[in-house]
Amino acid sequence: MEAISAESLTLGYGEDEIIKELDLTIPKGKITVFIGSNGCGKSTLLRSLARLMKPKNGSIILDGNDIANTPTKKIARNLAILPQSPVSPEGLTVLQLVKQGRYPYQSWLQQWSEKDEEAVTYALRVTGMDEFSDRKVDSLSGGQRQRAWIAMTLAQDTNIILLDEPTTYLDMTHQIDILDLLYDLNQTEQRTIVMVLHDLNLACRYADHIVAINNKKIYKQGDPDSIITPDLIHSVFGLQCQVTCDPICGSPLCIPFSKGRHLNDVKQQSLTELTNKL
Ligand SMILES: Nc1ncnc2c1ncn2[C@@H]1O[C@H](COP(=O)(O)OP(=O)(O)OP(=O)(O)O)[C@@H](O)[C@H]1O
Ligand SMILES: [Mg+2]
Repeated sequence: MEAISAESLTLGYGEDEIIKELDLTIPKGKITVFIGSNGCGKSTLLRSLARLMKPKNGSIILDGNDIANTPTKKIARNLAILPQSPVSPEGLTVLQLVKQGRYPYQSWLQQWSEKDEEAVTYALRVTGMDEFSDRKVDSLSGGQRQRAWIAMTLAQDTNIILLDEPTTYLDMTHQIDILDLLYDLNQTEQRTIVMVLHDLNLACRYADHIVAINNKKIYKQGDPDSIITPDLIHSVFGLQCQVTCDPICGSPLCIPFSKGRHLNDVKQQSLTELTNKL
């Protein structure tokens, strides 16, 4: 069963087409990760799923309805998005930012409730941001700020969570903490998670479903074990690599070749030849 689907989706800016006639199904209750090179359209696609941009063509279906005709608050109670490089209003504190995640539940009749308070406290705690709640967001380090935004996204308490490079700026411990937290939300509460990740090895560890985007289309999609191969990495990223097995999780582990340091004799040999010529 799908959480969101896109049909014949064409996206772009002005005359430029970034994504062309793409069909996509995001499986419900699973973790889906978009991968692809810089500028291939991952953020554009993710933003369109949250109706932050209007398709040039095609439609996005959430809960059986085209999101183009769904009230904003209804979408926001179903789906939260953490965009890439979000900007917060100047002077906002972490607590004020995270409270904004509860906006879809507020109305004229429904004022701030105990449930809102609980959701905010929970989000601050699990992201390790409770100690920063009175700090101004623009005074935080890059990683702290990223966690404040993740807290806001979690406070929205939605079944579908979209995150664009959530681990950017985070040190290794916080990367794993955040991904483990999302995994936990997925496992215990069957939340649907859709992320853009650049770290292919973490993508392979956490994803049930990987969507590789290239040339305005889906190049390949499926579970990491069946789709991540040296051929795919070469076609999508133009990079030669070896794919081996993550010794901790058993998922595919991509090790890129490089012109720099190398543990083989070939470079040593050519260096010797070069030196001999001089
Ligand atoms: N607001 C905009 N106006 C015009 N062009 C844009 C705009 N936003 C993105 N683009 C262009 O659309 C293309 C896709 O951008 P997008 O941000 O979706 O890529 P991405 O796959 O998320 O890349 P990255 O990995 O660098 O985040 C790029 O060529 C980019 O320059
Ligand atoms: Mg992006």
